[in-house]
Parts: sequence; C-alpha cells; structure tokens
Amino acid sequence: MGAGIALVGSVSALQPVSVCNEQLSSRVDTNDAWIRSRTGIAARRIAGPGETLTSLATAAAQAALEQAGWDAEDLDLILLATSSPDDLFGTAPRVQGAIGARQAAAFDLTAACSGFLFALITAGQYIRGGTVGRALVIGADQLSRWIDWDDRSTCVLFGDGAAAVAVEACEEPRNGLLGFKMHSDGRRADCLSLRQRDDHVPLLEGHSSQKGGFETIHMNGQEVYKFAVREVPAVLQELLNSTGTTAEQLDWLLLHQANQRILDAVADRFAIPHERVLSNLARYGNTSAATIPLMLDEAVRDGRVRPGDLIASSGFGAGLSWGAALLRWGGPGGARAPAAPG
Ligand code: UT7
Repeated sequence: MGAGIALVGSVSALQPVSVCNEQLSSRVDTNDAWIRSRTGIAARRIAGPGETLTSLATAAAQAALEQAGWDAEDLDLILLATSSPDDLFGTAPRVQGAIGARQAAAFDLTAACSGFLFALITAGQYIRGGTVGRALVIGADQLSRWIDWDDRSTCVLFGDGAAAVAVEACEEPRNGLLGFKMHSDGRRADCLSLRQRDDHVPLLEGHSSQKGGFETIHMNGQEVYKFAVREVPAVLQELLNSTGTTAEQLDWLLLHQANQRILDAVADRFAIPHERVLSNLARYGNTSAATIPLMLDEAVRDGRVRPGDLIASSGFGAGLSWGAALLRWGGPGGARAPAAPG
C-alpha cells in the first residue's frame, strides 16, 4: 500500500432545470440586480419531482468510476457528504447498491458546506491507514427541499447538485492530499441551521412523543459572512504554514461557492489574482457539499486545472464548520510526478 492519496477522477451531475433570478423574482420579492451584486449568483439548478439525492449522487458516482477506469467491485469505500439525504439512515448505501460496489462500505457524512472537504480528508485517512485502496468521495445536496420559498434572504442562494471524486492509494510522488486543517464551533450553530421541528404526537395519557420532521433553512447571513471572511483566510494561512507553501505557489484557489464577495475577499487577503480563483456561482449558486467537487470537475474538464496543479481548497458553513486542504490534482491514469511544494 502506498503512502499517498491520488485524486484520479472527478465528475458532476446536475438537474436539467435551471431557474434564473428573474424567474425567482416572480415568486418572491427580489430582483436580479440585488442577487447578482450581493452574491454573484445568476441561476441555480432545482430538482423536480422524481429526482432524488440518490439518483443524482449515483449518476456522479457511476460516471466517476468510468472516468477513473475502475470496476465498481474495486471500490473499498464510498463516502457521501450530504445534509439532505433521501433516507436519514443513510443514502450512501443506496448509491453503493445502485452502482454495484459490493465490496465497498458506504456511509453518509454530514458537515454541511464543509462536508466534501471533510469527507475527502476522512477517505484520505483510511487510505493512509492502509485499510482502503480505492474510494469514491461524493458531495451531493438537494437543499431546495429545505428552502422556504417565501424567505428571500435564503431562497435565492441555494441550488442542487452532485459531484464525485475518485481517490486511490499511491506512492508519495503522486500524493494529492498534501495537508489539511479542520475546525468546528457548535456554539455558533444557530447562525445557520436546519433543525428538527418541535412537533409532537399524543402517545399515552399525559405523554406525547416527538414527531420527526425538519424546519426550513435559517441563516443569519451577516454573521455567516463575517465568520467566512475571518476564518477562511485564517485556516488557509494555517494550511500554508503547515505545508511550507506560499500563496504565490498556488495554481488555484478552490473555495466553497457561497458568495462571490467572499471569494474575492479571500483572494485579496492573499494577493491572489482573481483569475486564479475558481468560481461557478453564477450558474449553480450554493450547492452546499457539492460546490467544491462541482467546481473542480468543471475546471478539469475545461482544461484550467491540469495534472500536477496545486490547489488550496476551503469549505465553510453550518456547524459552524470550516476547513482547508492542499490538493495536487492527479487526473485519470495518474499524473506526472510533481515537485513537492516549498
Ligand atoms: O454555504 C454556507 C455559507 N454561507 C454563506 O457564506 C453566506 C454568507 N452570507 C452572505 O453571503 C450574505 O450575508 C447574503 C448574501 C446572505 C446577504 O447579503 P447582505 O449584503 O449581508 O445583505 P443583508 O442580509 O444585510 O440584507 C441587506 C438588505 C436588507 O434590506 P434592508 O433591511 O437593508 O432594507 C434585506 O431585507 O437586502 C434585503 N434583502 C434582499 N433584497 C432583495 C435580503 N435578501 C434579499 C433579496 N432580494 N433576495
């Protein structure tokens, strides 16, 4: 078993229906100018009836397998980062069953918008520990299920999507996970939440039982914004320090896609030119756990991210949770051996 984790393939799956800002403004009191100037979002994909998180995640997983050139039976692990499962007992096993990965253990990981990065890091630890050789890490969310379409402060922000990255054990020169940092602060959980509803059913005389079900998404946008522009640069600096990397060495900044103003603020903090900051917010909005792999896949496909490129990635959001990882993109079939940073 090798000492590294190679990122060998990435694929995204998106619903066909795109809803633009003008369309939303016929439903709720908002307008295209406000949404674009405050967030950078122009449109988002919204799942329709019959489209599920399982179908979306399965499409991404299946395509990632094909892109990596792997048989489903070669997989040891499937991690599905999501906050909007089809089944609270776990959606990852449904994906595992659908793609026929009979040898793979599969489970969900919930860390909201940090979920993909936390799942990638988790898979990396299994691989480094020697118990997993090949894994799929999927980021998928269908937050449209949990949006209050009358709340203009949140409904314009989110969209649905899924993307998967194939990772495998490798020798150190191909290692694609060069360092990471993770943080949580549950004291600030109420800044951004999707909570169990306070609902009860009568059970016995004088005793009722709780009834399952969730509220809609609640967010204190300004608090989360302040959190993001403070903590994301801090965790990226920690990452750079711990890996002996400088901002100038980075080919790309790949941040959770929540707000273009956050992307710009973080880039400016490190004097990184905006053209080296990956952004697809305009077309997809905030797809939560899916934003980072969706963006990575798009940039790999259009040739911006090439094998050997050095990427600093950061996820942040509900929990509150945030983290960062220094990645070296590998590409299908193995990348050229890159020089170590520093
Ligand atoms: O993925 C997890 C991480 N999430 C984030 O990072 C989100 C962080 N927060 C943000 O991105 C921003 O705070 C928002 C985009 C959510 C909001 O932008 P803002 O500049 O902080 O706006 P605001 O909440 O301070 O609201 C400013 C005004 C208010 O009106 P008044 O009180 O000034 O008259 C809002 O009622 O904008 C109004 N407003 C809207 N107007 C038109 C809020 N939402 C809308 C809307 N359309 N959709």
